Formats: sequence, structure tokens, C-alpha cells
Amino acid sequence: MIETKLHDDVLEIVMANPPVNALGAQVRQGLAKALADAQGDPAIKAIVIRGAGKMFSGGADITEFGKPPVDPWLPQVVDAIEASAKPVVAAIHGMALGGGLEVALGAHYRIASPKARLGLPEVSLGILPGAGGTQRLPRLVGVETALGMIVSGTPIAASKAAQAGLVDKLAESDESLAAEAIAYARTLTAPRRTGDRSVSADPAVFEQFAAQNARKIKGLDAPQACIAAVKAATELPLDQGQEKERALFQQLVAGEQSKALRHVFFAERAAAKIDGLPKDIQLRPITKVGVIGAGTMGGGISMNFLSAHIPVTMVEMAQDALDRGIGVMRKNYEATAAKGRLTAEQVEKAMGLVTPTLDFSALADCDLIIEAVYENMDVKKEIFARLDGIAKPGAMLASNTSYLSIDEIAAATTRPQDVLGLHFFSPANVMKLVEVVRGAKTAPDALATGMDIARKIGKVPVVAGVCYGFIGNRMLIPRQANANALLLEGATPEQVDRVHTDFGMPMGPFQMADLAGVDIGWHRDPSRIESLQDALCAEGRWGQKKQAGFYDYDEKRRPTPSPVVATIIDDFRARAGIVPRDISDEEIMVRTLYSMVNEGAKILEEGIAQRASDIDVVWNYGYGWPRHKGGPMFWADTVGLDKIAQALTRYQQALGAEFTLSPLLLDCAAQGKPLDR
Ligand code: 3HC
Repeated sequence: MIETKLHDDVLEIVMANPPVNALGAQVRQGLAKALADAQGDPAIKAIVIRGAGKMFSGGADITEFGKPPVDPWLPQVVDAIEASAKPVVAAIHGMALGGGLEVALGAHYRIASPKARLGLPEVSLGILPGAGGTQRLPRLVGVETALGMIVSGTPIAASKAAQAGLVDKLAESDESLAAEAIAYARTLTAPRRTGDRSVSADPAVFEQFAAQNARKIKGLDAPQACIAAVKAATELPLDQGQEKERALFQQLVAGEQSKALRHVFFAERAAAKIDGLPKDIQLRPITKVGVIGAGTMGGGISMNFLSAHIPVTMVEMAQDALDRGIGVMRKNYEATAAKGRLTAEQVEKAMGLVTPTLDFSALADCDLIIEAVYENMDVKKEIFARLDGIAKPGAMLASNTSYLSIDEIAAATTRPQDVLGLHFFSPANVMKLVEVVRGAKTAPDALATGMDIARKIGKVPVVAGVCYGFIGNRMLIPRQANANALLLEGATPEQVDRVHTDFGMPMGPFQMADLAGVDIGWHRDPSRIESLQDALCAEGRWGQKKQAGFYDYDEKRRPTPSPVVATIIDDFRARAGIVPRDISDEEIMVRTLYSMVNEGAKILEEGIAQRASDIDVVWNYGYGWPRHKGGPMFWADTVGLDKIAQALTRYQQALGAEFTLSPLLLDCAAQGKPLDR
């Protein structure tokens, strides 16, 4: 775990704990010992600490959190580095994150390769830097920069770190770093301790910072604690500041928010793994992609590949639809460029990679073809049958369907092994989630390639089995059915939505319906009014696009409760003979959120999702589930499955006849087990 090499009078200490040199107990012990030994060795004049492999260090070993502590603690190791009587240089390449950067902050000098990135991302795990980072970083770079780095958690590039005073010297390259660090260490004559410095700031700075970031940090424990700890750096000597930091760290790490955020970290990484597939499976090369349909989805999907420098052939039925689609893509790129996030050259480069065409046979040389036309099984089958006659052997044929059976679509071809679902979420160029749908006959290498290409274009892919709505949309079905029923029984759209937004969702079911379009799936006959949705659509209330849906919208798309909708709901109740009653927030919670958990449990027991945490990833990245609540399945475990099962049983009649309780949920609740298969 720790290797040491003596280069004449400079000792090189190398942290070697693949894949990220996490600072687990053995690394800490090794570091402490190597340092102590070096102090007593008169032949050693200076010390260099660096990381083996692809980075300096990814920080503390997150798997150790929540377990009994093992000596030495990281803060003790960092203090020992700083206390060294011989100059210590941290040589940083790749990433220096969290505890990794704190080790580097304990060192007296820092040299970094130009591609290195340095950061304190603890806040995204619901904690704060707990090994002196909140005390040493402000002493080195000032309060403003330190607050920015610690509260955002975003790493900065080596060049910026050098400007800020965090890095003393930039090396030529990763390859030359070790040698340059040793030569640098040899020039140093004495330690230079960051802890000896002091830092001051007007106390108002902290309040201002909190106020400026109020929206981002609302309801989150860690950012508040980060601000308090950095403030302590301006008020207390290092050791007392560190005590304060430690106390805050202990509080946070034991809290529900940090547990949830750590769960999300590991859930994301687990989702990348496909059960039962050999690790060394050969992936299919994807160098050219075809997209069928230049609508909103087709355009968004195409942009992902273009941005990743993969050429796209885009096919449409009519020239005007094709032109419109290409125009929208360009407009989207230009809007990003206007915000300074792309250069004009990058826009042109991306748009230069798209080949718009009306000729279906132009798809013949594509390695992956994604169908993104409207949801109609007959149309999709016809397209896939045509594709079967055109696509080259081994090409992957994907559908972006949100609900329909990949098996039925695959059966329209003679190569069901090459067919899979790639379900992007709208807007597809922005939303991170892709459900990679595995048909009964999808070949393992096609599935693995689907996961891989999704990652390459910056997405978070999750494997799903075939069922109506896959993972995410299937869970919306009981939620929306109950939300609709609750309106008729006496709730208002505002009340139902508020329960969801208070919970932390970006929007509630009716705000979401307005955004997506109330008219989705509408039969388009204004005289046929069988549901509330029919009644709204008949009045032209199609959602945000018409400035009227479940809410009224102004020109800036700000919603206000609608008296018209209230009347429509009243009329509907009267016709159905429903006498409205007071609906409690608790009932809304049970019938919308708990019912989603129940559907998730069914998805799990049917094997549609590989693991409970995959469902959480779907909800985090596809629907904005608050990360600090982990995801619906993690959250259910924190609420208590017995409590959820009891509440669902209590409301079973109201939930609807088609609603059945998941045997897995009941079983786990009875046995006190978490919701995992
Ligand atoms: N502890 C334990 N395991 C870690 C880890 C860590 N800090 N960082 C990464 N891993 C594991 C991952 O779980 C994954 O395991 P798996 O292969 O079994 O799934 C493996 O290492 C590789 O990770 P990635 O797939 O994420 O590798 P990448 O190369 O894509 O990314 C990374 C590398 C940028 C370092 C990324 O892993 C990352 O962001 N890690 C977490 C960084 C972080 O939050 N550090 C702060 C830790 S808390 C801390 O230091 C507290 C201190 O202040 C006291």
C-alpha cells in the first residue's frame, strides 16, 4: 500500500492502493510509519509524497464511514506530515480529492502536473473535509476561494490552483512529475507549515456567501457546516479549528443526509455493472450512429453523440421536419455557446458531424441506429423490419420507446440479438439518465455496448428489463393515477404538488403533467370527456405550451392556481356524484410516494431492475429525486418498510382495485429486511 524509494537524500513515499489510492487504514498506517522513520534517518533531507497509478488520491476510504475508527485517523496523519522537521513536497497528478488534497495541504509544498485537478468534494457526500481541509485551505488561498471550493465541491484545474496559491509549481507533464518533484524537494531547506499562517475575513462575508447560495444549499446540512468550519479558521488557531471541524464532521457523517448521499455514490457505480456478464466481454465498435426521427427526442439524442465527436446520420420522412429538427439542434448549441459554455468553433464542429437525409438506406453504414419516432407499435415494427433489410451485420438496433415492448419490436427483425432499448429522458441532450432495456433475446455484447456507449456520451445508464414503462415511467403510473383520484376526492393540484416539492422533488405530478403536455395520449375528441385530463384538453388546457394546464401560466411560464381548473374539477365531481372531503398531506404522501415504492418493489421482484439501488439511480437522474434522500427504495428503508406496508394496507381501498401490494415489500417489512433481492 505504501512504497518508499530513496533517491540519494530525498525519500519518495508512494501511495499505491488501486484504483484511486483511497486513504484506508493500511495506507494511513504506512504513511505514518514512513514519515516517522524518515524523521530519524539523517541521510534523508526532504520527502516527496505521490500517488501510484492514475492519480494522487481520491480521498478517505468512503467504505470505512460508519464503521469503528482505526488508528491513525487521517487528521493525525496530516498533522504528522505538517509537523515533519524535513520539508515535505506533495507531487500531484490526476486527482487530489478530499482527504487526498488534505494530505497535500499537510505537505509544506505542492507541485502538480498540468492535467491535475484538485478539490474537496466531501459536500457531495453530505460531509465536510474532516482532515484539516476547512482550516488549511482558507489559510492558503483565502476565505473566498476556499468557501467556493468547499461548498461547491467542484475540483479546480492545476493552473487555477497555481494562481490561487494552492500549488507552488507546475510540472511539465505527468511523466516528468516524479523526477521534477524530487529535484524540487532537494532545493528546499526548511518546512513551511500552512497551520502557522492565519487568515482573516469580515464575518459578514459568511452570511453573504450563505445568502448568495441560499437556493442551492436550502435544506442541506453539509454546506452550512462547511461555512461554519471555514469561519472557525478565521477565528481560531489551527488545533482548535480542527476540533470544531471534527465535531461537525462526526455529526454529519452520522446523519441521514450523508448516509443517503453515500448510498447514491455507490449506487451509481453499482448501476454500471451487469449481473452475470463476463468482465472481459468484447464490445462492438461504435463509430457512426444513425437516428430515425428529427423531433425533440431525436434531436436531443443526436446532440449527445455529436458533442462526443461521433458522426450522426439523421433520417426523417419529410424535408421540412428534417430542416426544423436540424434548426432546433443548432439553436440549442448556440444557446449553450451564448452562455459561454461552448465556442463558436465547437458548435460548427458538432453540427458538421451530422448528415441529415430523407434516404433510409443511408443508415447502412451505421454501427448503432436509434429509432426515436412517436409511440406506436405498428410504426416501430415497420421501421425495424425495414432496418433489418438495410443495417449492416452486427449493427445495434435501438428503440427510444418509453413504454413499449422491446421483445415485440425485436420480433419484427431477423436479428433480435442486436435489438435493445435506449430510453433517453427529455430533454435528451441534458438529462443524464438512459434506461438500457434488455430484451429477452438481446445479446450480452449488445447490452454491454449499449451501457458503454451511453457512458461515453456522458450519461448514467441503468439496465432495465421489458415491461410497460420500464423502471421510471412504470413507477409514475400508480403515482399519477392516485394524484388524479385525489383531485376528484377533494385535493387541489397545488396541494398534491406541494407535498412533492416540500419533500424535495423539483416538481409535483401536475406541474410535471403541464411541462410534458396534458394532451399526451389524449384521444383528440373534445366531445368525449371521460377523465379530468379529457376535460382540460377539451378546453385547450394542454399545459405550459398553451400557458394553461392544471395551472395558469404567465409569459415567463410562472404558474398560478387556476380558478377555471377548480371549476372543471367541481363539475367533474358533481357529475360523478363525489362529495369532496378534506385530504391530508399524509394521505397524499401514502397514495403517491408510498405507492411508487410499492411499484418499485414489484419491479425488483420481477427482476426488471437488477437491484434496488438501480431504481434509486433512475429516480435521481431521470426525475430529480433529491439526492440527500437517496432514492425511493433507500428512502423507503429509512422510513421503515413496516410503516409503509401498514399505511398502504390502510389505504388499499382508496388506492384502486388494480393496486396490489408487493409480496416482496410485505415480506421485507415482516422480516425487517431492506428492500434488496
Ligand atoms: N473511497 C472508497 N472507494 C472509492 C473512493 C473512495 N474515496 N473513490 C472511488 N472509489 C471506488 C469506487 O467505488 C469504484 O469502486 P468499484 O470499482 O468497486 O465500483 C472505484 O473506486 C473506481 O471509482 P470510479 O469508477 O468512480 O473511478 P473514476 O476513475 O471514474 O473516478 C474519482 C475516480 C474521480 C476519484 C471518483 O471515484 C470519485 O469522485 N471518488 C470520490 C471522491 C471523493 O468524494 N473523495 C472524498 C472522500 S471523503 C473524504 O476524503 C473525507 C476526508 O475529508 C476526511
